[in-house]
Order: sequence, then structure tokens, then C-alpha cells
Amino acid sequence: ARSAAAFLPPHRDLASLREAATGCTACDLCGPATQTVFGEGKADARIVLVGEQPGDQEDREGRPFLGPAGEVLNAAMHAAGLDRGAVYVTNAVKHFKFSMSGLFRQHRTADVREVNACQPWLAAELDLIRPAVVVCLGATATQAVLGRPFRFADRRGEVVPLESHARAIATYHPAAVLRAPTPERAAEMRADLIRHLAVARGLAG
Ligand code: URA
Repeated sequence: ARSAAAFLPPHRDLASLREAATGCTACDLCGPATQTVFGEGKADARIVLVGEQPGDQEDREGRPFLGPAGEVLNAAMHAAGLDRGAVYVTNAVKHFKFSMSGLFRQHRTADVREVNACQPWLAAELDLIRPAVVVCLGATATQAVLGRPFRFADRRGEVVPLESHARAIATYHPAAVLRAPTPERAAEMRADLIRHLAVARGLAG
């Protein structure tokens, strides 16, 4: 299987990883996407948040969680007492996956091959940062962090130990809040997201 492992630099720090990731061609998403969107934030963050993949705006601007999902995330973090400047934010997949729908670029969910191909970048980020807590935003991030399927629907909010001694917690992806079928459901999901972020804050100490 194709893997980003071949693109990892010999000397690893976040700057060298970020630089090397700009040239990653380990999966086919690098062709249509504008650029690699690497993680950003504090190198010694106690909390790392992992999303699915950059969206339209993130792809254009080169930074994670800037668009509508980023606004939901920022507001939820604020409500949970977390400062975005104190954490590290990244994605399971570093390129935007989309299909054209008229003039619009429509998000498509990354598949397991793309998640697996990209996983060495996420693993390297987590190895360097060594956070206490990894917040997995949605099922794709959860799969990428745990490296195995996880019954996301029943096990959201559970605290799961990782081999690295960090702990993971899976919660809703902020974009899922935006796609909720009713305003009531959106409010519930947003409340869960805030609650789980507050748990992460507590675990991080
Ligand atoms: N959704 C994600 O999962 N990540 C981003 O960076 C933006 C939207």
C-alpha cells in the first residue's frame, strides 16, 4: 500500500515535517488539492485536536479549521474553556478531497486507503508533541488515531488509553453539528462536543 512513510524527513521537528509534507504524493488527493494543509499550534501542547481533512477554505488558505467547521470548533473550545492558541490542531488527512458539483467543490469523505497513506504524518506529529490528550473529531479522525475501527456511535465521550500513554476521546466533528437534521439535534451535538472538550481539558490538567 502507498504510504507517506517514504516522505518523512530524517531529522524530525514540526518545521521539517511540515516542509516535507508539502511534497507528499502518497495518495492521489495531492493532484486536485491546492496544497498540503499541515497541523498547527503549540509544539508542546497538552491537547491535540484531530479533524478529518481540510475543507474548501482550508485548502485555499493552507491552515486547518478556518472555515465554517472551524467557527463551530472555536466557539465550542471557548465554551469549554480551551484556548486555541494553547493546543495543536491537525487533520487525519492533509489534503482536501472533493468532487465538483456545478461550480462548487463538494467535500468527499476520505477513504481508508487515504487515511492509512496519510497516517505517518499524524503519527509523527503526535510523537513529537507527546500530548496528554488527543481529541478525535468524528469517525475518520478516531479511526486514524486508534488505528482500528471504533464504534463511534456508541463510544463517543469514552476516554481510551493510547499506547503512547496519552488518552484519546472521540467526539462529534464540528461539521456534523452544521449538518444536523434539526436545530434541536444541532444543539444536543454542540453540547456534547463542548462537554467532551471540557473532559479533555480536565484530563490535560
Ligand atoms: N474540517 C476538518 O476536518 N478539518 C479542517 O481543517 C476543516 C474542516
